[in-house]
Amino acid sequence: MTDKVDFTGVKWGSTEWTMLGTLYLRACESRLEHPVLGDRAAAEAVDRIDYDFDRMGRWTNSWSNQFLVALRAKQLDDWAGDFLERHPDAVVLHLGCGLDSRAFRLDLPSGVDWFDVDVPEVIELRREIFSEREHYRMIGSSVTEPGWLDDIPSDRPALVIAEGLFMYLTESDVRQLLQRLTDRFGSGELLFDALPRWTSTISGLVRWGTRNAWGTRDARELERWNPRLKYVSTGVMDVDAIPLKPQRLLFQLVYRIPAARNYDTLYRFRF
Ligand SMILES: C[S@@+](CC[C@H](N)C(=O)[O-])C[C@H]1O[C@@H](n2cnc3c(N)ncnc32)[C@H](O)[C@@H]1O
Repeated sequence: MTDKVDFTGVKWGSTEWTMLGTLYLRACESRLEHPVLGDRAAAEAVDRIDYDFDRMGRWTNSWSNQFLVALRAKQLDDWAGDFLERHPDAVVLHLGCGLDSRAFRLDLPSGVDWFDVDVPEVIELRREIFSEREHYRMIGSSVTEPGWLDDIPSDRPALVIAEGLFMYLTESDVRQLLQRLTDRFGSGELLFDALPRWTSTISGLVRWGTRNAWGTRDARELERWNPRLKYVSTGVMDVDAIPLKPQRLLFQLVYRIPAARNYDTLYRFRF
């Protein structure tokens, strides 16, 4: 008998499965002596979940990729922290949250209301690991459905975070979602990452991820889609901060190649 939460039914390659990979990588990184992100909640979650994480570790190449996921999350955490410091009454929409514990990792001002949003199957699993509390709610809905936004207060600054999400949506879905967000909120910031378009072709071929998903080499195209969105900056994966020497040297070398350095790019917009 095990008192772990049973995730063994999560199908390899399914929507729910994609979040287990990033969770696992954050958990690995948090167990290092000097982590960049140190997401202890991820490690605790992995310890509570019954799933073949050894296989996941081999598939995700955790030896090196734990740092990519940690550096990406760290940059988004830093941007989010900066926004929340300036807007302690904000609402946060954490879209495609998976099993990410960002709401608990950040030091949130007491006036912030946080909404973790993911598809219903994922939120059902998420509720087995995390509980709602004051100022923290989970919403089970595809972000492409319009209805879920109706429950979010619209009279406060909004911070929208979409990490590892837009590469699963079509361009039309991303455009409509961004339009709905800027129609609903008077001001805010949008933080997300994007892959080049060719990756969705490959994903489609290997039946992982979404065929025809949105991708771009320059997300400033969002300004042309939606004039309310203003580009602020592009994130930097600070590979020099990787605490283990072999991996640091590897990434310092690989990141000399622009295609590698710009593979998963982080963006910050305001509206
Ligand atoms: C690669 S995981 C990233 C999870 C989390 N952001 C992280 O970094 O660990 C992609 C997430 O996007 C979610 N997702 C994909 N399509 C979605 C949609 N249409 N609406 C809401 N969430 C979606 C998946 O369920 C999954 O949790």
